[in-house]
Parts: sequence; structure tokens; C-alpha cells
Amino acid sequence: MSVNQATALGDILAGYSAGARGVGPENLIPILQEVQERQGYLSEGAVEALARVIGISENEIYGVASFYAQFRFQPPAEHTIHVCQGTACHVRGSHQILFDFEERLNIKAGEMTADQKFGLERVACVGCCALAPVVLVDGQVRAGMKPKFVTGLLAKLGYKPFAKAS
Ligand code: FES
Repeated sequence: MSVNQATALGDILAGYSAGARGVGPENLIPILQEVQERQGYLSEGAVEALARVIGISENEIYGVASFYAQFRFQPPAEHTIHVCQGTACHVRGSHQILFDFEERLNIKAGEMTADQKFGLERVACVGCCALAPVVLVDGQVRAGMKPKFVTGLLAKLGYKPFAKAS
């Protein structure tokens, strides 16, 4: 765990200790949510430290965290692309958009490129169906997405496809 991560974790735990909530197993999920919000993921170091402070085993923490899809155990990619697959987006072709991102990035939804620059996620309705089909790029909504925009969007984000072997 880096110094910054340790400081962030200390701040989070201090907030719980000082407040009415307390640092205990009953607050494990909100604590994990805050750790991930500050650090981008749940590092091994953070889980180890939390286990010590809260007084439960690391396995228990991994058991709880892995139950929820929201928690990650690896650092996020530099750019994360969420392709909405909710009904409104689906009927407007989001399946093809997801397929095109997978093809261009050469990864499947739920994976990240080898250089960790791009992560691709499938997501259910993100709450702006009137703008369908929708893609989130680093949390920013891209409305009216079309398959023909995929290559340009990736280029703007600095994606360089690997050179093909001759
Ligand atoms: S279905 Fe995609 S935003 Fe609602």
C-alpha cells in the first residue's frame, strides 16, 4: 500500500471512529465503498489493514466484497468505458456498439487491455434512456452513440491498436 493509500485509509477509518458509526463489521460495506472511491480499488494492503482494525479475517472481507459486483481488486484502467445494455439502449443497437469496442480493443466486456489503458464494462440502465444508446467514458455520458463512432472515440482517448504482424 502506498503512502497516499495508507493516508486515505487512515482518514476514512478516523472518520468512522470519530463519528457515531464506529469501525466495526457492521460498517464493513460502507468502509469498503469509501476505500474504493478514494483508491479506485481494494488493494491487498487495504484489505489487510482493514482486517486488523475491524477485527475480522481478510478472507471474511474478500468473501463479502466479492459478493458485490461493485468492488474491484485490481487498479482500474486509465480509461473505463461502460456500454449500457439496458432495454432502451439495447433496442437502439447497443449490442453492436459493445461488440465493436470488444473488437477494436481486442478484449471482452469485464476485461482490460494488456497495457491497462482501457477497461470495458457492460452495464445495465444508467438512467438516461432518452439519450440512448449511451456509453460512459470515464463516467461521462456519451449520448446517441453509434458503432461508427467507436474508432474515433478510442482514437481521441489515445488508443493505438497493436501493429499487425506482417
Ligand atoms: S437503457 Fe441505457 S440509459 Fe437506460
